[in-house]
Amino acid sequence: MALTSSSSCLQLVIIVFLLFHQTTEILGCYTSIFSFGDSLADTGNRVYYDADNQCNHLPYGKTFFNQSTGRCSDGRLIIDFIAQALGLSFIPPYLGHHNQDFKQGVNFAVAGATALDSASLEKRGIPVDTNYSLEVQLGWFKQLLPSLCDSPSNCRSMLKNALFFVGIGGNDYNYPLWEGKDTQEIQTLVPEVINDISSTITTLIDEGAVSLLVAGDLPIGCLPSYLTTFESTNLDNYDPSGCLKSLNEFAQFHNHLLQNELNRLRENHPHTTIIYADYYTVAIDLYRFPKQLGFKGTSGALTSCCGGGGIYNYNLSAKCGFGGSTCCDDPSSHVSWDGVHLTEAAYKWVATGILERSFMSCISSKQHTVDHSISLVSSL
Ligand SMILES: *[C@@H]1O[C@H](CO)[C@@H](O)[C@H](O)[C@H]1NC(C)=O
Ligand SMILES: *[C@@H]1O[C@H](CO)[C@@H](O)[C@H](O)[C@H]1NC(C)=O
Ligand SMILES: *[C@@H]1O[C@H](CO)[C@@H](O)[C@H](O)[C@H]1NC(C)=O
Repeated sequence: MALTSSSSCLQLVIIVFLLFHQTTEILGCYTSIFSFGDSLADTGNRVYYDADNQCNHLPYGKTFFNQSTGRCSDGRLIIDFIAQALGLSFIPPYLGHHNQDFKQGVNFAVAGATALDSASLEKRGIPVDTNYSLEVQLGWFKQLLPSLCDSPSNCRSMLKNALFFVGIGGNDYNYPLWEGKDTQEIQTLVPEVINDISSTITTLIDEGAVSLLVAGDLPIGCLPSYLTTFESTNLDNYDPSGCLKSLNEFAQFHNHLLQNELNRLRENHPHTTIIYADYYTVAIDLYRFPKQLGFKGTSGALTSCCGGGGIYNYNLSAKCGFGGSTCCDDPSSHVSWDGVHLTEAAYKWVATGILERSFMSCISSKQHTVDHSISLVSSL
């Protein structure tokens, strides 16, 4: 894949330099993390009640945990890297754990969860495979909170030092896209999804949240699942990286509305810090410059490591974790883990980018640089 211009190459060099030259250990910024979201952040809620879920089977987890943990990747997720960078332990899933485990926060994210409540999606003919939408997760938080702090003023100070992560909305579009509904129809959902995310943020702020990290959508047009489902002989549908243009534009449309809404929330709540985690902008470089970032060129960017065959190694009849699928030898050579979720290596790239963009002012200690930083920079 050729770089289109010397300026984009220079831009990449600068980004890589920034990402890999800074430390990733950020201590003392927050004392806990409360996380709301979907499979991009679920560290074990879904599999607590759904043992048959694909993310409950090896090779899920094989790279880092040596066993499946319910994380939908071969290893750590973005939220894990953020917790580690903040000097915190991995955030325990809410389901199946006890209050005493939640000293450094709790993770309410559920794989498959939507921002919109499942009943309203189903009313529109969009089947949803979990009821634990954003509103349900917020309810869990409200219910749990009194047990985490013994007085209202203690709660306020605990929440003031906490980082709230909200990363949801992708599934609101995934379900109808997989049903074959067209993006024009699905676009009508976007303002409602943004509205739900916004009202959740407002509720969290009312409860005492001060620091929030709100994630946008990934470049979904580069995911093997969509590349397979919407495969086309019309080359105009693809960008130079081989991603589906219309789906990436859709993700950017969601992200644009989300950022507008976050601006509005910042104006209404000037005492808070609302950070936009720009997954799209950080992740798109994985597809534009895979080789330079350590992935195996175009095939490592657009085909899944774990899957059951096909051009993009994504096969609905042989999904990763189930019979008929195979796993590549080195997941870190691939961006996509299972066609829908990314590998630990790709998540590490995204997390590092988010941390560098978002938490510069809170970096208080230089512990270590990300491995192979020098070789990456000099190889460009
Ligand atoms: C996984 O196994 C490797 C190699 O045996 C080991 O170094 C690593 O600590 C293990 N990871 C965990 C989380 O147990
Ligand atoms: C969602 O909730 C409805 C109503 O309580 C229930 O019938 C359905 O089985 C639930 N679905 C899932 C996937 O949990
Ligand atoms: C998809 O998986 C099924 C079941 O394992 C298999 O029969 C089929 O050949 C696979 N398709 C491709 C394109 O590899």
